[in-house]
Amino acid sequence: MKVLFLNGPNLNLLGTREPEVYGRTTLADIEAKVRERAAQLKIEIGFRQSNVEGELVNWIQEAKGKFDVIVINAAAYTHTSIALRDAISAVGIPTIEIHLSNIHAREEFRHKSLIASVCKGQICGFGQKSYILGLEAAVYVNENKKTS
Ligand code: DQA
Repeated sequence: MKVLFLNGPNLNLLGTREPEVYGRTTLADIEAKVRERAAQLKIEIGFRQSNVEGELVNWIQEAKGKFDVIVINAAAYTHTSIALRDAISAVGIPTIEIHLSNIHAREEFRHKSLIASVCKGQICGFGQKSYILGLEAAVYVNENKKTS
């Protein structure tokens, strides 16, 4: 099984970016934790970050036939990007939306996710643990492809 983790804009700044909201863990630390758990579960991982919307769209398209599940923290593009929404819908790879913070407990403009309706589900509010929960959700979705 292969899972692609995609990270959107400003997540490269984790560790120093608004630590009161996002914690002090860097994206590299999160990637290491994801890889550690994935090794236990015998899952292959791709892990990427971009500040560029079109690059994320390209990676979603290229994942077709290569990855079984996508786990995406689209960051601010969650709330703005019809292009990401359409890419997820077009490739048809089961996708799980994740966020470090609880977007529903924050500013109103973060309550709406344009990608939620084309994702299998959403995990948010658990800090870096959202990534591990996302990985475990990916396993569940893959094992229950027909029913989940
Ligand atoms: C985020 C939440 C988004 O609203 C925000 O724009 C981010 C990070 C999160 O992981 O909590 O950049 O996706």
